[in-house]
Amino acid sequence: MSKYEDYNSASRNYDNQRFAMGSDVMAAMIQFHCGKPLKDLHVLDAGCGTGNYAKALIDYGVGQVTLLDASPGMLEKAKVKLADAIESGKIKEVVEATMPPIPFPDASFDAVMFNLVLHHLDGEGDTGFRMVIETLKETRRVVRPDGFLVISTCLPSTCLHSVWFTQFNLKLTERYVKVLPSLEQFSEMFNTTKFECMQKLNTIGSFFLDEYYNVEGPLDKSWRQGSSYWKFATEEEINVIEKKLKELKQSGELENWVRAHDRANTAGVLTWIFCKPQ
Ligand SMILES: C[S@@+](CC[C@H](N)C(=O)[O-])C[C@H]1O[C@@H](n2cnc3c(N)ncnc32)[C@H](O)[C@@H]1O
Repeated sequence: MSKYEDYNSASRNYDNQRFAMGSDVMAAMIQFHCGKPLKDLHVLDAGCGTGNYAKALIDYGVGQVTLLDASPGMLEKAKVKLADAIESGKIKEVVEATMPPIPFPDASFDAVMFNLVLHHLDGEGDTGFRMVIETLKETRRVVRPDGFLVISTCLPSTCLHSVWFTQFNLKLTERYVKVLPSLEQFSEMFNTTKFECMQKLNTIGSFFLDEYYNVEGPLDKSWRQGSSYWKFATEEEINVIEKKLKELKQSGELENWVRAHDRANTAGVLTWIFCKPQ
């Protein structure tokens, strides 16, 4: 269960806003590092949401995917989207569970992926990413010794400097980024949980969020539902951001302001971390 986002409610609009950005690179990295054809691999999509990445991987030829998520609402959407793959056995299991633990026997999977999931495990005010560490320990147990771990995340530095809508209120952004592990924190957690980081990649562009460049987006509640960032904002903070945005719009400066405060197309928004078990 996410510590701050209600995904049963978010599941209604999730697929209007999100895409499986980077799934092509992910499929290639999984195949290369597992050293087997995709068709022979079994991947756990941990925190699968509505199954966008699972669907993309199956379309690229991955043999079997198991879905796990804490939200029954998200899993219902995934089951509809992946009905054919469930029927054909390409989706091996659909499991509703809150991590940690990861409820599978040792060495069950060739690869485990967490796409935009790990920052939901520890809440605002929790320190030390205890839930992430427990979940990575469990991942080490359920992934095969020659297997592979994929994590996609937004880094604190990216969120602080690259995303235009986080620039309206940096105090709010500083509060939010506390739930995002930095690369240094990931590195420590990999040492503790016995993973070795093989590669880190940034994807340039904002395509995982449709309408990222809707400059009036923050005025619209359903647009704000596209990012858990807004869950950290108080009513008052949202009112102040809306006021500032309306002023920029009225003065004709909004587009320029967004351009000046955004680096998604130069620095990127999403970071991919690829690891092997030690
Ligand atoms: C931002 S969504 C990402 C969904 C999907 N991986 C994607 O990239 O489209 C985060 C997902 O993680 C799930 N989640 C959050 N905390 C969880 C936990 N402790 N255990 C299992 N799933 C969790 C949520 O229910 C939600 O579906």
